[in-house]
Amino acid sequence: MTKFTLLAGLGFLLTLQIVNSAKLACYITNWSQYRPGNGKFTPDNVDPFLCTHVIYSLATINSVNEITNTEWNDDIMFKSLNALKTINPTLKTMLSVGGLTNGISPFIQMVSTPENRKAFVRSAMLYLRAHGFDGLELDWEYPGQNGSPPDDKQRFTELIKDLRKAIEQEAYDTKNPPLILSAKVASVKSTIERGYEIPEISKLMDFITVLSYDYHGHWDPVTGHNSPLFKSNLDSGNALELNVNASVTHWLKGGAIPARLFIVLPTWGRTFTLSSSETGLGAPASGPADAGPYTRDAGYWSYYEICSMVSNANVEWIDDQKVPYIVKGKAWVGYENFESYTAKVEWLNSLGLGGVSVYSIDLDDFSGRFCSQGSYPLVNHLRNSLGFGPKPTSPPRPTTTANPSTSFCVGKPDGLYPNPADETTYFHCFRENTYLQHCQPGLVFVDDCKCCDWP
Ligand SMILES: *[C@@H]1O[C@H](CO)[C@@H](O)[C@H](O)[C@H]1NC(C)=O
Ligand SMILES: *[C@@H]1O[C@H](CO)[C@@H](O)[C@H](O)[C@H]1NC(C)=O
Repeated sequence: MTKFTLLAGLGFLLTLQIVNSAKLACYITNWSQYRPGNGKFTPDNVDPFLCTHVIYSLATINSVNEITNTEWNDDIMFKSLNALKTINPTLKTMLSVGGLTNGISPFIQMVSTPENRKAFVRSAMLYLRAHGFDGLELDWEYPGQNGSPPDDKQRFTELIKDLRKAIEQEAYDTKNPPLILSAKVASVKSTIERGYEIPEISKLMDFITVLSYDYHGHWDPVTGHNSPLFKSNLDSGNALELNVNASVTHWLKGGAIPARLFIVLPTWGRTFTLSSSETGLGAPASGPADAGPYTRDAGYWSYYEICSMVSNANVEWIDDQKVPYIVKGKAWVGYENFESYTAKVEWLNSLGLGGVSVYSIDLDDFSGRFCSQGSYPLVNHLRNSLGFGPKPTSPPRPTTTANPSTSFCVGKPDGLYPNPADETTYFHCFRENTYLQHCQPGLVFVDDCKCCDWP
């Protein structure tokens, strides 16, 4: 792009920053493509204007310590995800790397020697650029735990130092904007203390996402909420730590930079089966409720599986913790709704945190088919709470009118095309939809560079 379009872009970014500087990172998952019927989700379901960042879960690390894909069709998924940037050029995409190999984190072997780290770092730079990603997320749960030796706390810092150095070098060499670097990190005090040199890693990361969920679930003998904002009046001892506010406090006290700290907002709830006539918070429970018809995994239900039950169940609000639950028959579900999202946003604004990560947008009512609240009700509500402006008005969709420009893109690959009728405009084709775009005043579209320039 020329300096003219660049300047226009810069103006746009500056305006955005004044209005709102919070980031909204949205996860999509490789396994959501296998959900049945209306639950099936692929990158084509992503609204390109919904989030500031989209993070694809999950890539992994192979036996020679290089980053690699996990699904047979990840390449196709990567392509269709990164194609969203032709619709929204300010969207950033990232690849999350993690998972388990034979039940153990591949990070353990990879960080164990400088040579192994070097192989990973090198492969990551090439892989991300080759597939058109803007950044990398490290998903190691967790250094110093689950089979990882205590020294991995320091080795994790070494890995991040190596990555930061390589990112700067790569950006210098290629003149591309530097790749974004982030990590998912633990939420419980003892795990945080074992795993991280907080001040060192905070300086080197663009952002850090605290895994602020799974505080309670069907593994507990009594009902409790997946992601309570604050402690409840029933909590004592270690349970006082099991809330978002306590987790973030540990990170901030440890030296994390508030503006680079994100929390996760779940789009799903955790379920229990009640084992007595009690139905409140802390009621006896005996494991998970039945699996949801779409997510098919006992213990959690997606927002779109929950919303249809809300209409004929009582929604209870845990005021201490600023989160809702419903009871339906013997099932107890602690989940998130508009009110709990708003409460979390108000709280994170009061601390000056950098943003939120939604895990994951395939569990919101992405199609709008389930909840009668439009598409992506939770995430769209979140955008409003965060103070995001309206999404760019969608360019006109093709209609059945005789206007030839609306059918221009039918049968054409995605991309930019000159408008034969007017050189100050051009066509943007996306999934065979035609979007008419205008160059800045005085400029014309040049096909060679696919950009606007002086005539
Ligand atoms: C998705 O990624 C995970 C993590 O690497 C991997 O274990 C899994 O096999 C992939 N596919 C599915 C369908 O879960
Ligand atoms: C949130 O955490 C801070 C720091 O630990 C604490 O002072 C405050 O009371 C907590 N807020 C609530 C409502 O529990």
